[in-house]
Amino acid sequence: MKPIRTPELSVRIGNIKLKNPVIVASGTFGFGEEYKDFLNLDDLGAIIPKGISLKPMPGNPPPRIFETEGGILNSIGLQNPGFEGFIKDKLPYFKNIKTHLLINIFGNTQKEYMELARRFNEVPGISGLEMNISCPNVERGGIAFCSDPKIVYQLVRAVRKLTKLTLIVKLSPNVTDISSMAKGAEEGGADAVSLINTFKAMAINIRSKKPELGNTFGGLSGPAIKPIALRMVWEVSQTVNIPVIGMGGIMKAEDAIEFILVGASAVQIGTANLINPRTAIEVIQGIRHYLIQSKMQRIQELIGAFRY
Ligand SMILES: Cc1cc2nc3c(=O)[nH]c(=O)nc-3n(C[C@H](O)[C@H](O)[C@H](O)COP(=O)(O)O)c2cc1C
Repeated sequence: MKPIRTPELSVRIGNIKLKNPVIVASGTFGFGEEYKDFLNLDDLGAIIPKGISLKPMPGNPPPRIFETEGGILNSIGLQNPGFEGFIKDKLPYFKNIKTHLLINIFGNTQKEYMELARRFNEVPGISGLEMNISCPNVERGGIAFCSDPKIVYQLVRAVRKLTKLTLIVKLSPNVTDISSMAKGAEEGGADAVSLINTFKAMAINIRSKKPELGNTFGGLSGPAIKPIALRMVWEVSQTVNIPVIGMGGIMKAEDAIEFILVGASAVQIGTANLINPRTAIEVIQGIRHYLIQSKMQRIQELIGAFRY
């Protein structure tokens, strides 16, 4: 009998090679250190810490999390220590972690994104940037950057010129045609797109007749959004020629495999980290097991193998 070879799980995104396709999603894994007692961070494909803005942000009033059937609503409000706070207090921990660090950035003007890209480009130890473009554009009446393909193109193009780091653009599902936004990002020079961010949503307490979240609206994530996320990843992967990173309700390896089958080169684990902090590791093991059972040598044989 021939010995079973361990399948090759590595994937390329822009100019980086991930040892496996499993990334932990921004905002659901703290700044990495919070999870160190549950898993070996070196084993992850990449880590994306909480989104970073130029200046520190206090976030929204509580309650900020509300559990729904099949998901959670969050209105954290992008609380973060800002660029300088991150560099001083959070980045040093990653010095000895042997996986890629991707920084999720956001702003309210094109200039803020550009300034963050310029500054992070000079910081050693960072492999790439993930641009969260779901934020309101204050120069355009507060309409989110992600909702107009021309704005997406201009924003990504401006940032692309300022960084050599792998550039990932994270798309919002709160649009009519997510594929056109992905195309805008690709034409602007993105190395990859990641999707989806959360759905704008709300919940009401019928006793108080008030919203369950301090901010009224929040973002819906978790298993409830998975079928829609999967459909969007499929549509986007049919539209662009750059790698697609899929997420939205991945709780186990089988969910991740669905995303890979419809064209995702890598996946992100979000809400599941809050329920089982070892989910990402279990997903890596599950993908490996599936490849062995399917007699596949490399993850690439699975990417886009969806038959329809
Ligand atoms: C508590 C919480 C905080 C989040 N914070 C961010 C963030 O700072 N930046 C960002 O781009 N996405 C953020 N997200 C969105 C996730 O990264 C992910 O796109 C989304 O939750 C869908 O994946 P999931 O269903 O696996 O959670 C956050 C999600 C949650 C649940």
